Amino acid sequence: MTSNSNSYTTDGITLKVCPPSSYRSIIPELAVLLKSCIDSNITMNFIQPFSLEDASEFWLSAEDNVKQGKQFVVIAQEAKERPEPEPKAQAVGLLHDPSDQEGTEPPVILGCVILYLSQLPNAKHRGEVGKLIVGKEHRKRGIGKMLLSCLEDKAREHGRTILVLDTQTGSGAELFYEHIGYTKVRIR
Ligand SMILES: CC(C)(COP(=O)(O)OP(=O)(O)OC[C@H]1O[C@@H](n2cnc3c(N)ncnc32)[C@H](O)[C@@H]1OP(=O)(O)O)[C@@H](O)C(=O)NCCC(=O)NCCS
Repeated sequence: MTSNSNSYTTDGITLKVCPPSSYRSIIPELAVLLKSCIDSNITMNFIQPFSLEDASEFWLSAEDNVKQGKQFVVIAQEAKERPEPEPKAQAVGLLHDPSDQEGTEPPVILGCVILYLSQLPNAKHRGEVGKLIVGKEHRKRGIGKMLLSCLEDKAREHGRTILVLDTQTGSGAELFYEHIGYTKVRIR
């Protein structure tokens, strides 16, 4: 595992709190994640019809709060290996071809979660968790747990000693949260 104060990488997956300066650039990927969730009948406050534009609009509407430090978006990214270049039929001299570079593709966002910091004067100890999403094909790899762990660190850094969230009764997410140690509360 490698880490610095803003991110850490484990098993090729980097967890980080998105800096406000690059927030806008990740909105297209966040929108795809959110739309795929709504399309699989996980409501997350929205109802159908729900377009990619609606999803982008949601993330865009959060930008001011992200810039003001009232909420944080934690993301999990993975850099894919570049595929082996196709062998060339003929030698092409010594011209530099950037596609021949070894290395990795730009990282892809596999999951996200939002930490909302309560702004109420008597609730500066409270944070809220929202929009925890791991892409379907990346679930059960520990990414949900890592996203929350990163979010919890950020919450502590801001003096938040309690985290609250809503989730659907009987859903996989309810089982997930219970499994990783969250406690269920409800009105009697
Ligand atoms: C809920 C969700 C975020 C979990 O993400 P994930 O990356 O698959 O979870 P992890 O791999 O980190 O799982 C952590 C642990 O919870 C368990 N777990 C995960 N999903 C579970 C489920 N549906 N039922 C029971 N246990 C589950 C895992 O087996 C794992 O256990 P282990 O630590 O003993 O191995 C993901 O399923 C998801 O994005 N769901 C759709 C969106 C959603 O419902 N979000 C919550 C809205 S409130």
